[in-house]
Amino acid sequence: MRHYVIAGVLVIVLSVATYAGLMAIHLMPVEASAQSIPIDHLWNIEIAIISFLFALIMVPLIYSLIVFRRRKGDKSDGEYIVGNNTLEITWTIIPLITVLILAYMGTYTLGDVLAVDPSALVINVTARQWEWSFTYPEGFTSKELHLVINQPVVLDMQSTDVIHSFWVPQFRIKQDVLPGRITTERITPILIGSYTAMCAQLCGTGHSYMTAPVIVSTQTDYDVWIQGQVAAAAAAAQTPVGRGQQLVAQNGCTSCHSVDGSSTGIAPTWKGLYQSKVKLSGGTTVAPGTVVTADQAYLMESIVNPSAKIVNGFQDNVMPKTFGTSLTQSQISDIVAYIESLK
Ligand code: CUA
Repeated sequence: MRHYVIAGVLVIVLSVATYAGLMAIHLMPVEASAQSIPIDHLWNIEIAIISFLFALIMVPLIYSLIVFRRRKGDKSDGEYIVGNNTLEITWTIIPLITVLILAYMGTYTLGDVLAVDPSALVINVTARQWEWSFTYPEGFTSKELHLVINQPVVLDMQSTDVIHSFWVPQFRIKQDVLPGRITTERITPILIGSYTAMCAQLCGTGHSYMTAPVIVSTQTDYDVWIQGQVAAAAAAAQTPVGRGQQLVAQNGCTSCHSVDGSSTGIAPTWKGLYQSKVKLSGGTTVAPGTVVTADQAYLMESIVNPSAKIVNGFQDNVMPKTFGTSLTQSQISDIVAYIESLK
């Protein structure tokens, strides 16, 4: 009996210490969405149960090792124990009930997180290798996700290529983004600040760079930003270079092609590309080692048929081969005009 009391007290002490220790190291970032509160509540309950289970296993194990160890000179066999039905039924029923309660609480929390709010603002999210873009109700597309504090938002998300996963750790919710199907994520931001959206599904070479800024601000700051974007988009649409730049943003070109001469390691930079000499490692239309001038025809061909001429130092089959059908001829001309402008 004395051993049960001592072990029982030790289990309680170790449970509390483990729980307090895990809480003290802040396993979770700040709670920046209304959805993060019920999720963290569930998380804390699970951490408490895990702490208790850890103590329930470790205390009897270590206590037995020390207190019931073989003494010097003891050559006898251990006591032979046949099963104990009461114990086995107990340790089946209690975990079963615990898991059922957790399943109920998990379902309830999921209901909270997925609850439809008719006042939610709809923002369309496009994921592609390896970039996020956000299309707002006003019609423009940005690489930044701007949200208003306490304004529920629903993200209608779709991928143009492989499976990605939209995740802002401070909002807690993570949702896969699939090609050919719209998935949604509901967020109500509750904390003003700047966060980073990440991709949580291994999606290729640039996966770890697939991030986007998320800015939660007041309604006033948001309106100012929206008006600025709308005005800039209207002005840019007047010229081929401006339209080309918008198309580049909408199609995610700059996630692989830099426009400032920096190296992404994935694809050649566009800065100074026009009319420069390009050394090729091969391709379906040229021999290895050929040098060509990056004129309009070369740029257009490389957009529509990227395998035709492979730039030395880069891989084939990285650039999508779909732009010949997804873009019109005049859109391709606008993009080429934009590339030409990057001297
Ligand atoms: Cu997209 Cu990982």
